Amino acid sequence: MLKGKKVGVIGGGKMGGALIGGMLARHLVPAEGLIVADADQKQREELKKTHGVSTTESNRVAAKSAQVIILAVKPQNMADVLADISGAVDKSKLIISIAAGITIQFIAERLKQGARIIRTMPNTPAIIGEGMTALAAGQAATKDDMAMAQHIFNAVGKTVVVKEDQMDAVTGLSGSGPAYAFIMIEALSDGGVHMGLSRDTALTLAAQTLQGAAKLFLCGEKHPGQLKDMVTSPGGTTIAGIRVLEDGKIRGTLMAAVEAATMRSKALGSQK
Ligand SMILES: NC(=O)c1ccc[n+]([C@@H]2O[C@H](COP(=O)([O-])OP(=O)(O)OC[C@H]3O[C@@H](n4cnc5c(N)ncnc54)[C@H](OP(=O)(O)O)[C@@H]3O)[C@@H](O)[C@H]2O)c1
Repeated sequence: MLKGKKVGVIGGGKMGGALIGGMLARHLVPAEGLIVADADQKQREELKKTHGVSTTESNRVAAKSAQVIILAVKPQNMADVLADISGAVDKSKLIISIAAGITIQFIAERLKQGARIIRTMPNTPAIIGEGMTALAAGQAATKDDMAMAQHIFNAVGKTVVVKEDQMDAVTGLSGSGPAYAFIMIEALSDGGVHMGLSRDTALTLAAQTLQGAAKLFLCGEKHPGQLKDMVTSPGGTTIAGIRVLEDGKIRGTLMAAVEAATMRSKALGSQK
């Protein structure tokens, strides 16, 4: 899909670097098909050394030579980056943003009319190719543009397409979600230590159990409730544990966490 096309990544930090690594590992583009612009010289040298990609300090140069441009700088740097590249971007180029809270309108207003824009929200497991990315298309973006963006983000995990006004909810669930999962891993391992396991053993048991359960759901056809019922025998150990989780309102607590993070994302977005 990207054959013969050049991809420009503006901001080669944690997320930009993860996308570069994913695209190369999955052979979406050869190293010569990537150009990375980053303000940080050390970062540029590191990217050149690790991935063999060409780098530049000029956002404009990267935007000019690429047909697909991924904007991967922090949200507070987006206005500067868009000012740098606006003269180099026309309708022939696809713009993909990963900046949290930056709307398609914010980007469109700073580029020439008719710019093809896709806004995305990845999460940190993208760094190891297990990310979850939601994508929303701007008015001028085509079906092929969305397919191209999904092709790129599928290299670092899974993708779903949403409407832009659902991005705050995505942020509240999969964007902030890794932190919720880390707390669950830590708390389950605390339980194991409390019951006499070593910390290392307890952490491995907790993390692999969450990963295994998630994979069992993702690889099969069964609802999580059915999978839970399959390991819950009458009068057994699991139902005794579940009773305590329900007493602690775990479901309502997780729902409220997603709601709180969604509302916070909305509030931060309205300040921009
Ligand atoms: N990390 C996450 O969990 C996550 C999840 C979803 C979305 N995102 C989004 O991903 C984006 C990148 O986050 P990150 O964690 O990868 O950030 P990061 O590691 O700080 O990477 C950003 C890179 O861009 C460089 N940069 C800053 N200003 C620039 C400019 N004007 N022109 C060119 N390069 C510039 C930075 O250099 P300096 O270090 O010198 O500033 C840095 O190397 C953010 O917008 C964030 O909202 C992140």
